[in-house]
Amino acid sequence: MGALACVGTGVYFEYRKREKLAEIASEVKSYGKPALGGPFVMFNQDGVPVTDASYHGKFVLLYFGFTFCPDICPNELVKMGKVIDALDKKTLPLEPVFISLDPARDTLGQLKNYGQDFHPKFQWLTGTKDQIASVTRAFRVYFSKVDENDDNDEDYLVDHSIVMYLLSPTGEFLEFYTQRSTVTDIVASIEKNMKDNKKK
Ligand code: NI
Repeated sequence: MGALACVGTGVYFEYRKREKLAEIASEVKSYGKPALGGPFVMFNQDGVPVTDASYHGKFVLLYFGFTFCPDICPNELVKMGKVIDALDKKTLPLEPVFISLDPARDTLGQLKNYGQDFHPKFQWLTGTKDQIASVTRAFRVYFSKVDENDDNDEDYLVDHSIVMYLLSPTGEFLEFYTQRSTVTDIVASIEKNMKDNKKK
């Protein structure tokens, strides 16, 4: 295996990821809530079919990644776990959902096994290539398979946007968080969004 990194595989990829993020950020600024997200059909780590509606009634923190990601995804998933625990203490339940960008290697067995290292509340979703293409388009997630060496089909990285999305109990996009957002920042923002949502 060559030097493994989940990001930083090139200036072009960095550019594409930042462009996607800038797109989302500018829309949040101009229109309040951008039209991010939408219906999706996938299945969870137990092979149970799920849709966006499966999570209605709960606030959801959604993250896209791949289980073979060497460090960025694990760091972000640990961060999400801390956010969940902090909110649980305040009896503000939040549903963490992971969507795989690498369905070829992220099989149900792999997702289940991987999930043991993270917060038990996590739902680990995967689907067909088309289902993943559709949900990533809806959330404007950038991802691209990076071949480290062409002679080994199983040895590759997936360069991808590192963004967490907060969704309302009706599945509406509320907020996004980047790699730079701290646990404290995210908890405070989610708490505020939960309070604002109650007033509606
Ligand atoms: Ni990653």
